[in-house]
Amino acid sequence: MPTETVHSDNWLRRGPLDLIEHEHQVQAQLCDSLERIADDLPDNVDRRLCLQVIDSLQFEMPLHHRDEELGLFPLIEKRALPDDNIHDILARLALEHATDESFASELLESLEGLSEGKKLKNPDMVGYMLRSFFESYRRHILWENAIVLPLARARLTHEDMDELHRTMATHRQ
Ligand SMILES: [Fe+2]
Ligand SMILES: [Fe+2]
Repeated sequence: MPTETVHSDNWLRRGPLDLIEHEHQVQAQLCDSLERIADDLPDNVDRRLCLQVIDSLQFEMPLHHRDEELGLFPLIEKRALPDDNIHDILARLALEHATDESFASELLESLEGLSEGKKLKNPDMVGYMLRSFFESYRRHILWENAIVLPLARARLTHEDMDELHRTMATHRQ
């Protein structure tokens, strides 16, 4: 079993929302790494950092989005009160997942080239794309930490937490 899977199993045992919150911290570090890569373009980029970032963008980010869209968000929708006004926010966050995943797949080719020590043909454009990506992703994490997770902690029942735990465990099998 890969180290990351064991690690996320430990967090999941504490509680599904704790794992989501922990992954937000990891994603914040991912954004810092992307900023460092953008700052170090075109010639000083850390190739190993690129490999780590590729892995996170390719596997960890989509998994996290699946947990939220198929697990967390529907449960919040079910339990939210009308005054919570959460429906539009969740719809927007889900849309951002799709946008961010397609943006990430556009970045992958350049990051793979950098990880192999190749020179980029268009470093300014790649720098611009990296910055757009991590700036919008940082905002996304802030919204979820400030609004979505506190609401989930306030509204979800023990049964909901069990269901979320099962969904997230299934995503990791
Ligand atoms: Fe999200
Ligand atoms: Fe998230």
